[in-house]
Amino acid sequence: MIRTHRCGELNNTHVGQIVRLCGWVDGRRDHGGILFIDLRDRQGLTQIVFDSEQQKDIHQVASQLRNEFVIQISGTIELRPNDSINPQLPTGKIEVRVSTITILNEAKPLPFTLEDDVQASEAIRLKYRYLDLRRPKMQELLALRSQVSHQIRNSLHTHGFLEIETPILTKSTPEGARDYLVPSRVNPGDFFALPQSPQLFKQILMVGGTDRYFQIARCFRDEDLRLDRQPEFTQVDLELSFVEREDILNLTENMIRDVFLQTKNIQLPDPFPRYTYDEVITRYGSDKPDLRFELPIEDLSEFSKTSDFKVFRTTVEAGGMVKGLVVKGGAAFTRSRVDNLVDVAKDFGAKGLAWVKILDNGKLESVIAKFLNPDSLQHALPNAQPGDLLLCVADTPSVVHNVLGRLRTYFGEELKLIQSDCWAPLWVLDFPMFEYDEETQRHIALHHPFTSPTMESMPFLQSNPLKVQAQAYDFVLNGFELGGGSLRIHSSTLQQQVFDLLGIPKEEAREKFGFLLEALELGAPPHGGIALGLDRLIMLLGKTESIRDVIAFPKTQKVQCQMTEAPSSVSNNQLKELHIRSTWKADLKNQEE
Ligand code: AMO
Ligand code: AMP
Repeated sequence: MIRTHRCGELNNTHVGQIVRLCGWVDGRRDHGGILFIDLRDRQGLTQIVFDSEQQKDIHQVASQLRNEFVIQISGTIELRPNDSINPQLPTGKIEVRVSTITILNEAKPLPFTLEDDVQASEAIRLKYRYLDLRRPKMQELLALRSQVSHQIRNSLHTHGFLEIETPILTKSTPEGARDYLVPSRVNPGDFFALPQSPQLFKQILMVGGTDRYFQIARCFRDEDLRLDRQPEFTQVDLELSFVEREDILNLTENMIRDVFLQTKNIQLPDPFPRYTYDEVITRYGSDKPDLRFELPIEDLSEFSKTSDFKVFRTTVEAGGMVKGLVVKGGAAFTRSRVDNLVDVAKDFGAKGLAWVKILDNGKLESVIAKFLNPDSLQHALPNAQPGDLLLCVADTPSVVHNVLGRLRTYFGEELKLIQSDCWAPLWVLDFPMFEYDEETQRHIALHHPFTSPTMESMPFLQSNPLKVQAQAYDFVLNGFELGGGSLRIHSSTLQQQVFDLLGIPKEEAREKFGFLLEALELGAPPHGGIALGLDRLIMLLGKTESIRDVIAFPKTQKVQCQMTEAPSSVSNNQLKELHIRSTWKADLKNQEE
């Protein structure tokens, strides 16, 4: 046996045993005659001791050891003297007195120090990802991810789901991002698309009688990256036949509650609170509000109708709105802090940010104070008190909600309104089916075009598409969208009608989704599902700031892998085989000239 135990599992019950351990040298302290080494493996650290008096040969080998050497030792477990017990470490009561040592491999000095509070830049950490992964914090995150996947698999198997893989080389699935394309060597000029999600396949599986499908599925989306977005990411993807919305929400909720309870002993509320899309947008200015703090958006449109401040009055008269945030204690902010808020709001897309300090004597301090009547303001905002700061935006509803929603999130951090260890899950329901995109002058689907409208709002498909409601739902946790799904269209005629409304010509619909339209005509059961972002779930559960920390080999902001240096150029021969000619380098050269 190469090893008898792992470094993290030894304690005072093992005293007297002879053990064999393998691992990395995590640190060394040379006290003259005695050398202490922390030996590390995935599970933890054990202190091992070399005594030069008693074991001259071994001490000699040990003195060559440097950080990150890989070694194997055997020795006897002993209790540490009382004054050297380390209560922080699970193995802190014992040490191993070494009797044999083998150096399995040496290590050059490392490009950065492996510590939990790592100082090295992320670029270096990603280049040497294997070193970064040795840090206990990273090992914990990988283990957490594995544990959660395992638990989800178990839970779904118990509920009768089949785990089924769907193709990676496939056809475009519209989830709103650009596709990654793969040229086909055998079919000159044709391309596969990598799936943005398994959406169409899971629906087809329902038509195929599978009844309950799940997959821990890799998805690929070529879109701008953020801290919570990667170009390839993982979904816990579900689809069910013969179900109602309630079935899917309950199943998902229970699964998430179980994951939190079993992995971190966190008790999430039962049931998760539910809000309509309208409620979260009008009250929190976001379809993924962080409900760990309140700070609601207040409506001042009525008040503004009769206000002497022209910007407010005319905005409401023109069909816009005026809304604001009441920042508790904000009247004490300095002028420069308030000016900074105005700049922040403008960065978020506001034309201006009107601010009003409510002074202790009840008077208003503001450049627009002379236009405002303190009594009617108090009437409009019963919550506002002396000492508060009112911040208002007048604009179209979408600008007002977007700017105030983002300011609200900003204050959550800035004013430290978020208590640690607070968890705020919620469902957002009753989404509109379509949005109108001014730029392309077209309706676009808020979720995806396979989402079913509600029965009641079906008639509006003809008369007023913006009034059509979708049978869609999002799961939100602490301000992150963790999942989304819907009941699907299972009638070919209705599906075609929705494609028409989205301005997808019949031929294009046939070409792209012909197989779906046909399947829907050949006995498709009613069905629905959901997909949860596994990376985001682990990021929140593991309390880390970036989705990159929970993916073993993530991409940088520039969509590159620092370690392998992918993507990289390929030879002309390879391109030729794929029937591809790249003009890119020639174009660059032309630009330079
Ligand atoms: P949606 O597009 O909402 O739905 O995706 C589901 C969940 O996947 C996560 N997610 C991402 N995570 C990391 N990086 C990304 N680039 C990224 N994009 C999405 C989010 C999101 O909530 N087919 C539908 C699901 C369905 O209708 O069943 C879909 O893919 O947490
Ligand atoms: P002005 O009359 O443009 O100097 O604006 C007077 C105050 O109203 C300034 O504090 C502006 O920031 C604010 N303001 C201007 N436009 C808006 C708007 N659309 N919404 C909210 N405040 C605004």
